[in-house]
Amino acid sequence: MSAVPNPQTIALTGGAGMMATLLRPYLADAGHTVRLLDLAEAAHPRPTESVHVGSVADPEFMTSALEGAAAVIHLGGLHREKTWAELVATNITGTQVTLEAARVNGVGRVLLASSTHAVGFHPTEAAAQDSVLIPRPDTYYGVSKAAVEALGSLYADKYGMKVVSARIGTGGDRPANVRTLGSWLSPADSYRLVEATLSDVGAPGHHVVWAVSANTRGWASLEAGRRIGFEPVDDAEAFAYGVDTTARDEWAELLGGAWASDSHRVGVDNYPHLAVK
Ligand SMILES: NC(=O)c1ccc[n+]([C@@H]2O[C@H](COP(=O)([O-])OP(=O)(O)OC[C@H]3O[C@@H](n4cnc5c(N)ncnc54)[C@H](O)[C@@H]3O)[C@@H](O)[C@H]2O)c1
Repeated sequence: MSAVPNPQTIALTGGAGMMATLLRPYLADAGHTVRLLDLAEAAHPRPTESVHVGSVADPEFMTSALEGAAAVIHLGGLHREKTWAELVATNITGTQVTLEAARVNGVGRVLLASSTHAVGFHPTEAAAQDSVLIPRPDTYYGVSKAAVEALGSLYADKYGMKVVSARIGTGGDRPANVRTLGSWLSPADSYRLVEATLSDVGAPGHHVVWAVSANTRGWASLEAGRRIGFEPVDDAEAFAYGVDTTARDEWAELLGGAWASDSHRVGVDNYPHLAVK
């Protein structure tokens, strides 16, 4: 990826997390200066990166960390179902604090990590329409992401910021199964979304976009993203050789997949074997 003409200072919350770790090389190659904000210490900072340990829900920490930044990429938070109290404290309050810190510091570009699970009870085929789906969450986590989007809308309208709420399909370095052949967002395309957020196209305003790659098996309309200049180019199909494509996705009919099923419980961690984040 070639360097952009206008390197910026970018605050990256969740800077120690999976998606941020995959995004960092692209930001560095483009010449951006990046602040890695997280409860955990981000590993192996480059000369253009600085590490800031603290919570996105801490106003003092966030106000200081965003000083002089041009943009915030807000990936920090809980990425799966938890208790209501945990999701409110981290995902909802953490986003309000992040947006407020951006406002106070005059940071005019914000990318918020929303999720398919904000609209998980919609039929998958509904995502092909060009208009933005109203929230139809499949979990408290999905509710927290709908609230993230609502906060982004408020801050864009009230304070003239450009806020992009990205309904991320599935991050990762490659698709892992037949479902993610349709929902994958490649690291390079996540970077393209950052650049679209940084641009003046659609500023000011709030934009809810599908954050997925140009997947052959994709189900999402890319139109809302195109309106802010986000044009994904990668295709999960390039990795189909590593996926059991004969497997049936039994939850394919709903956007939230298994998270919309009865067996995926609300208010509890359905994947307790995963690392506590
Ligand atoms: N990975 C996906 O497929 C996917 C899909 C849709 C949406 N998202 C969203 O994208 C974002 C990044 O996802 P990820 O997969 O990289 O998750 P991740 O869990 O790997 O990264 C999230 C990071 O946020 C940090 N964090 C948690 N609470 C924090 C707090 N209070 N203050 C500061 N940092 C905190 C964690 O330490 C972690 O490093 C999340 O908001 C997630 O909900 C991810």
